[in-house]
Amino acid sequence: ATHKLLLLPGDGIGPEIMVEVKKIIAWLNTQGKETFETDEGLVGGAAYDAHGQAISEEDMAKAMDADAVIFGAVGGPKWDAVPYEVRPEAGLLRLRKDMELFANLRPAICYPALADASSLRKDVIEGLDILIVRELTGGVYFGEPKEIKDLGNGQKRGIDTQVYDTYEIERIAKAAFELARTRGGRVTSMEKRNVMKSGVLWNEVVTQTHKAGYEDVQLDHMLADAGGMQLVRWPKQFDVIVTDNLFGDMLSDVAAMLTGSLGMLPSASLGAPDPKTGRRKAMYEPVHGSAPDIAGTGAANPIAMIASFAMALRYSFELVAEADLVEKAIANTLDKGLRTRDISAEGDTVISTAEMGDAILAE
Ligand code: NAI
Ligand code: MG
Repeated sequence: ATHKLLLLPGDGIGPEIMVEVKKIIAWLNTQGKETFETDEGLVGGAAYDAHGQAISEEDMAKAMDADAVIFGAVGGPKWDAVPYEVRPEAGLLRLRKDMELFANLRPAICYPALADASSLRKDVIEGLDILIVRELTGGVYFGEPKEIKDLGNGQKRGIDTQVYDTYEIERIAKAAFELARTRGGRVTSMEKRNVMKSGVLWNEVVTQTHKAGYEDVQLDHMLADAGGMQLVRWPKQFDVIVTDNLFGDMLSDVAAMLTGSLGMLPSASLGAPDPKTGRRKAMYEPVHGSAPDIAGTGAANPIAMIASFAMALRYSFELVAEADLVEKAIANTLDKGLRTRDISAEGDTVISTAEMGDAILAE
């Protein structure tokens, strides 16, 4: 099959780590099975420098048309003073909004070679492979009213409102069940139904959605605070965790730190399936930013970016064997002791961005 990718390298180390993904795409294209057609655009400061916008309408249209967008990182001190509407981050926000990317996927994987280096107990994290699915476009970050009210008696009141409608919970639940089918087949839904009405509804809708066509997936419910505790105590009990925007923000950051460095963490954001093709709009990006402090030095770790592309293989194209291959290549490279600076310990030989990309490709 043919797959259309839009590559948006962005700023700082973004273009440097994207080069390493392109090597893997080029290799996949020589295997004669799948064809990846790539187009490239500008986003962030790079787009601002070229045409005064954080992403051009032309590139935005390409993103809407692509089967998957592979995004590097945006931002840097060079653009600190540009107007707010065209700041580099505005490009990322525009993509998320126009593509309606309501499901944010953050995996926490423990590479065996790094289990020893972790400050956590090895048996707790060795072999860890979980996926947090966070609702990204609703909940307390967006609900109205949202204001600071002057109460007139020297007191003020800060108000945020948690709002979830049935359709928002249903679509994130479906996404989680479908993702679970490509992995361990289990979903744990987390909310606080004991104290929140939106939690009661969340629990109900997830349960109903499960009954309507997803009963092959195992579903469990957990209160989000207990879930946080379990995530640290014994994270391997989970496969897919689905939760709201606020709890997901915190739980995914906790899960991320179970396994390590910013340079290792991939992510994906998914939209609704196209009614005709069934394919979801999707964007894949490392969790880290443009790292201006190391840009141009060859010190950037390309693993988060390459692992993000592996997520595209798995979740956009259902190329599970290919995704496994890329992830195994990363693990093997680390097993050989190859390290970029950010994941190196004393005595390790440190290799460059390009050397790490080449080593993963060779594996
Ligand atoms: P950052 O993630 O860019 O860097 C934080 C620290 O981690 C730095 O010391 C950096 O050198 C290191 N680091 C990050 N990625 C690395 C990698 N792949 N390999 C080795 N080391 C790595 O966050 P920071 O410094 O807060 O922000 C820098 C710029 O990036 C800002 O303009 C910020 O707005 C932007 N940013 C963009 C994001 C995005 O495009 N999604 C996300 C976060 C920040
Ligand atoms: Mg966060």
